[in-house]
Amino acid sequence: MPGDSTGNFNLLHRTCKLVVLLCFLHISVTVVFYVRSLDIRFAFVQNQQSHNTSTQPNRDRSTALPPRTEPKQADPKKEVAGLQESAAPQAEKKLEKCPETSPLLVGPLRVEFNIPVSLEQIKKDNPSVRPGGRFRPADCEALQKVAIIIPFRKRDEHLKFWLHYLHPVLQRQQLDYGVYVINQEGDATFNRAKLLNVGYAEALKDYDYGCFVFSDVDLIPMDDRNTYRCFSQPRHLSVSMDKFGFRLPYNQYFGGVSSMSQEHFLKINGFPNNYWGWGGEDDDIYNRLASKGMSISRPSGDVGKCRMIRHDRDKKNEPNPQRFDRIAHTRETMHKDGINSLTYRVVSAEKFDLFTKISVDVGKP
Ligand code: BGC
Repeated sequence: MPGDSTGNFNLLHRTCKLVVLLCFLHISVTVVFYVRSLDIRFAFVQNQQSHNTSTQPNRDRSTALPPRTEPKQADPKKEVAGLQESAAPQAEKKLEKCPETSPLLVGPLRVEFNIPVSLEQIKKDNPSVRPGGRFRPADCEALQKVAIIIPFRKRDEHLKFWLHYLHPVLQRQQLDYGVYVINQEGDATFNRAKLLNVGYAEALKDYDYGCFVFSDVDLIPMDDRNTYRCFSQPRHLSVSMDKFGFRLPYNQYFGGVSSMSQEHFLKINGFPNNYWGWGGEDDDIYNRLASKGMSISRPSGDVGKCRMIRHDRDKKNEPNPQRFDRIAHTRETMHKDGINSLTYRVVSAEKFDLFTKISVDVGKP
């Protein structure tokens, strides 16, 4: 009937209007809530950003090395301060101190030299190493600032193996460290100990290191528990070398890899500058330490195992015939020959991705 259908139509019409109204209301409420949630999210992001800029140390500032200045003279205040702990640059972001023994250590390592390594690959494998071969742990404050000094001339292949093996080890040891390759320019007879003195002086221009590790370029530790840091006494780290059948060649042996705090180093007036050619300079260093009443600290034979990369004797590094005479007189000469009489000329100083290379003219015999 026409009356009924009009009534039905009106009812349908009203119902539809109600549904449309409800939909509109629903959409409005949804839009209001969505806009409000956007506001909150935006405010949160802004808050996060301002928090980050105020609490995180400025990466550039903290990673950049301080400007190089003239070599520092022995600082008597530091002499009594002993091992320096990492402090100032990390003050902004207060981290807890790293533990005495790093939890990242894995123990014995496989060390082989039959497959060549490339600097590009080493760089890729160690993304946290900063220009100049610098590193410090991200999540704790390193206990020591360690400069690793490598006397060098024409041993690029050995250096690659050293970087390949040592960067991962040193990072696992949770050290705040830098690698300094001290390259003797020219063809004069090699002078290992003088290059080590130069490394000490040059590294201090970069950072306030408190510990110095002196390492030959061809020596690789076979256990990462052999920590490249300083101890209360000067440390000999390469105690069981494959070259010597994994044992000490003699009790006073102090060659290969050793470490010393700044206090130890200054007490003995650094190293001798007049040992030209192979041999004797490490014995002289041992004599200096003994004459100042210091003893040698060493890791166990197991932990102190290391491999030497086999090589022919370098040209211009023949055994030094004067070494026996010089060693016999360390106690008389050490006060006038050492870090206090060091002279050299820096030819170039470059920061590579994995190490800092300082080329120097150290003169000739
Ligand atoms: C030399 C040292 C050398 C040691 C082991 C000694 O005769 O004087 O300089 O490190 O032999 O080769």
